[in-house]
Amino acid sequence: MSTLDTLGRPLRSLRLSVTDRCNLRCHYCMPEDEYVWLPREDVLTFEETVRLADLCGEMGVDRVRLTGGEPLLRRDLCSLVAQLASRPWLTDLALTTNAVLLADAAAELKTAGLGRVTVSLDTVRRDRFVKLARIDALPQVLAGIDAVRRVGFEDLKIDSVITRGDNDDELGDLLEYGRSVGAEVRFIEYMDVGGATHWRPESVFSRAEMLEQLSARYGPISQLPSPPAAPADRFSLPDGLAFGIIASTTQPFCRTCDRARLTADGVLLLCLYAQHGTDLRRPLRAGASRETLLNLLQAVWKGRADRGAEERRSVRDRSSYIPLRVLKRDAHLEMHTRGG
Ligand code: GTP
Ligand code: 5AD
Ligand code: SF4
Repeated sequence: MSTLDTLGRPLRSLRLSVTDRCNLRCHYCMPEDEYVWLPREDVLTFEETVRLADLCGEMGVDRVRLTGGEPLLRRDLCSLVAQLASRPWLTDLALTTNAVLLADAAAELKTAGLGRVTVSLDTVRRDRFVKLARIDALPQVLAGIDAVRRVGFEDLKIDSVITRGDNDDELGDLLEYGRSVGAEVRFIEYMDVGGATHWRPESVFSRAEMLEQLSARYGPISQLPSPPAAPADRFSLPDGLAFGIIASTTQPFCRTCDRARLTADGVLLLCLYAQHGTDLRRPLRAGASRETLLNLLQAVWKGRADRGAEERRSVRDRSSYIPLRVLKRDAHLEMHTRGG
């Protein structure tokens, strides 16, 4: 029987951020010119990461997603993949990446036992990519996507954050690109998470607007069933092409949230909007026993009450959630530290 939190939610999904570094500077995540990085000596070794992941496995986790920053910047990531893939409690091991470094890594990731890949890609226009991510890397990204298909990954997904005036005219083109590479595209509403310092309500392109735009181009869209704790609602075009929408801002799904996040330096965060986490690195490095750590994890999950995105929805005059001066004091508040 798994531990339930105060809202009756089980812990099933663990997102492991393996580095806070990134090789892109997406406007909704890292719009600033300078960042304070986690101290290198604080970053968990893979052995430490796996020990904590195993404890989460004992708590009921059976799905792990590796994120960053950009996880492929972490040296020897495949060795972590191989260690996790051998865990008996794990049924689903996925990677979220911007794909800039994916072309060279795809084959080794597959061999190491990675199950699925999700690529963050917000535009298929090169000039626009440069504007939105501030690096001219679209050709590498597209090569990375080709490579994951070639080495035989199935269930490829493309996540596109849609922001008004930036790429809200590109939904159809992104879908067509997804079709051409056999990937399911998911459109994500712009969230006011920590790090999104330019967030404004007007910049959110809502799920309703997405559906309106797509049905104007393709005709009537039907909704498909999706698993209860999945953030994405799934839809189908009249020709059968499936896609998803993650409406975190206008229709949050906190009531079914079964996720926890572990930052690269071992801080456990429960909600994307959490302002505080639980440092597991210190007790781990101080030699805490399995029981002590497990009790700590259980107590933290049992006490969980957060509904970050739902609470944000009732804020009036909403603007960016965490002010820049506060972000600068604590890297853990940044989305690129806690993992998208
Ligand atoms: P699959 O495992 O492929 O089904 O992925 P998923 O649907 O669980 O989505 P994934 O974990 O890849 O997250 C996709 C995007 O959804 C993220 O990049 C965020 O924008 C958003 N998201 C993920 N987790 C949360 C969450 O806990 N709360 C909110 N509000 N949004 C989230
Ligand atoms: N709003 C929505 N999604 C975001 N991500 C990062 N910042 C935001 C934001 N402000 C998520 C996206 C992206 C992944 C790396 O992190 O899904 O694809
Ligand atoms: Fe973009 Fe992801 Fe890097 Fe953030 S962590 S800047 S969303 S690629």
